[in-house]
Amino acid sequence: MEISAYARRVLLSPELEQKLAPCDMPPTDETPGDPLRVQQPARTSHLQFAAPRTAPPMPKPPALREPAKRAIAHHIMANHELQALEVMAAVLLAFPSAPTAFRTGMVQIMQDERRHTRMHMEQASRLGLQFGELPVNGYIWARTSQFQDPLDYVVSLPLVFENCNLDHTLELEEIFLEAGDSRSAGVMRAIHRDEIEHVRFGVQWLQAMKPADQPDHEAWLAKLQWPLQAHKARGHQFDADSRRTAGLSEEWIDCLARAEKAGLTQPADQRDSPASGPAE
Ligand SMILES: [Fe+2]
Ligand SMILES: [Fe+2]
Repeated sequence: MEISAYARRVLLSPELEQKLAPCDMPPTDETPGDPLRVQQPARTSHLQFAAPRTAPPMPKPPALREPAKRAIAHHIMANHELQALEVMAAVLLAFPSAPTAFRTGMVQIMQDERRHTRMHMEQASRLGLQFGELPVNGYIWARTSQFQDPLDYVVSLPLVFENCNLDHTLELEEIFLEAGDSRSAGVMRAIHRDEIEHVRFGVQWLQAMKPADQPDHEAWLAKLQWPLQAHKARGHQFDADSRRTAGLSEEWIDCLARAEKAGLTQPADQRDSPASGPAE
């Protein structure tokens, strides 16, 4: 299947089943087309991005003992995964001249993001909440308008959001296990394993696209745009081992370990606006 056709289907189909349908493998990149910028992903009415601060925040850890609150957490994370999928599709359409290996790698990662979306939808449903019953935010999508080149994407989504998720997945796995919910915990562990590979993709393409004489973490910091900053690439409990596995340098890991911690309990859409100060 052509990569551009797959990206258009993900981004321009409002129906979830179309967005989450697999790409026919292997992907081909023979007609990448002209650059295309999309203001908003097509979504059905119940999954439109809500105004800032109207979507429910991530429940605080003590509340996640309640199944209904865990359902809200899965609902929020299903929307995060869906946005990741849409952002990746947007990057494929915006930068048709990016290397084919980069574009093919993105399509492979998108197949994980499809599964992650479904995994969270299924857990929310098991806990009594259907995806789309609550308002959803567009925080991750909002970053795409800042991308001027593929490296902007690399430093942001894989190396901030997915980097941070290396910690949040482990934090939530522990919280869900304490709540006796092994199925929710298992989802977080599975996503954590995939996320290591997604961060590795970011590290490898940063190394390929940055100036050769610039250290990885310096190139990353230099390219980040507000509100994304170093501390937004980590959670409260910093897991150095998964960064090592993903290929981050020791200097970079040290930089993250020293960065101010981003709390799990602060909802992303309430940590991002200039009014509330910068955060994830
Ligand atoms: Fe994911
Ligand atoms: Fe991911």
